[in-house]
Amino acid sequence: MPATAILGAQWGDEGKGKAIDQLATFSDWAVRFQGGNNAGHTIVVGETTLKLHLLPSGITNNECKLVLGCGMVIDPWVLDQELEGWYSITKERPEGDRLFISDRASVIFPFHRFYDEADKIIGTTGRGIGPTYRDRTERVGIRFADLKFLLNDKNRLSETAERMNKQLSTVDVKKEITSDDLFSDISWILERFSNSIRNTGKMLHSALEDGDQILLEGAQGSMLDIDQGTYPFVTSSITGRANASHGSGIHPGQISSCYGISKAYTTRVGNGPFPTELSLEEGPGKQMSKLGNEFGTTTGRPRRTGWLDLVALKESQRINGYSGLVITKVDVLGDLDEILYCISYSLDGKEIDFLPTATEELSRCKPIYRSLPGFQSRTSEEWISLANKSRKGQGIEILPDSIRNYLKTIEDFVGVPVVSVGVGPDRLASIASPNGPFDFEIPEATF
Ligand code: GDP
Ligand code: IMO
Ligand code: MG
Repeated sequence: MPATAILGAQWGDEGKGKAIDQLATFSDWAVRFQGGNNAGHTIVVGETTLKLHLLPSGITNNECKLVLGCGMVIDPWVLDQELEGWYSITKERPEGDRLFISDRASVIFPFHRFYDEADKIIGTTGRGIGPTYRDRTERVGIRFADLKFLLNDKNRLSETAERMNKQLSTVDVKKEITSDDLFSDISWILERFSNSIRNTGKMLHSALEDGDQILLEGAQGSMLDIDQGTYPFVTSSITGRANASHGSGIHPGQISSCYGISKAYTTRVGNGPFPTELSLEEGPGKQMSKLGNEFGTTTGRPRRTGWLDLVALKESQRINGYSGLVITKVDVLGDLDEILYCISYSLDGKEIDFLPTATEELSRCKPIYRSLPGFQSRTSEEWISLANKSRKGQGIEILPDSIRNYLKTIEDFVGVPVVSVGVGPDRLASIASPNGPFDFEIPEATF
């Protein structure tokens, strides 16, 4: 049975965690394949809200095995904290039992965090992501498989500490790392996680041969992709479908379907061009921020808000080849007089239908909008009740015409069907297209 990828189709925070939690109902495995704890994936089940940074969102199905894949960069101390949080809720310790760490994944050390915290340009999450990927590319990075060898190699430990200190001095960070620090950090990581470190690519390959269902959980989004995104205001990994297989250690032919998650509007955290950006102080931008609770899951920073950018969404489709789109947070747009969506840009007086590669040009792009009439707001209880009713066969047809017109416009523009519509944060607050991948009864939580 092949694998399914769930990817962010914008600048991150589209609602990937919620979609994975829903699909995990029928999955044997959930795999993170890139990024690290720059990600923040939220799952809301009734009164319980989970904010996951490293643990795959499929953790909510206690039958689902979990992998932190080879494409990831992993901060073991953050993982430890997250596992303690999970234990306090569930009394389960999945590590080594159903949670496995790729031996090829890179370790984020305190050094990487110190270095990243000096960033003044990109507006990174400061979690050490970029510096850890840089070390990997420079071939001086430390993978989980290397830890036990490094521990007994005094020369390498002191060379590593020296390299780290030199680099910190170049960004004026006054922190000193010693080989003793590295020795004790590595000893702790091995003690804490040795039972979980595996050749996970091989495990996933065997699972696919056995007919298991595998979910590949994207982090960030296509516009934050290091190659295809709004460089340099991007993250440091490939966020797309091409890396969903590679970063998991399986081959591209094993991904049979791929769903792109997009909000019904746009948000972005951190710096960089954002053509459809609105003011957070007034009007629709303020409504998106307030009703959408648009604050970063990882850093708590306010997310910038704007209308849906169909140019960017179509670009995301070109990169990833979606089988379907999940449009989230439609509820947030309730009671607006009209809903705007961007269909092209004006750059220096010329209309274009793509994102210019150079930041200097993209930041000069002015959105060209079309509009549709708005729709009446509902309370979150009303939305959940509508969603519950939709599962009796009607699906998306239950939505008012104005919302369906908006969804149809998105489908036609991007050329991909909408398979699920988010109408609230709760796991139950989604309305699926009949017979599509999200058309099922959502079960009670098992945690
Ligand atoms: P991710 O990084 O893609 O997993 O997304 P985040 O969890 O960072 O951000 C999405 C936020 O929107 C979370 O707070 C979710 O609980 C919330 N959310 C997801 N879907 C919906 C929806 O359809 N409506 C509303 N109102 N909130 C949603
Ligand atoms: P999820 O998985 C939104 C942004 C940061 C910054 C840029 C680079 O929750 O969608 P980094 O720390 O990765 O080097 O920062 O990328 N960023 C995200 N924005 N959601 C995320 O993850 C993000 N991960 C990184 O704000 O602009
Ligand atoms: Mg997020």
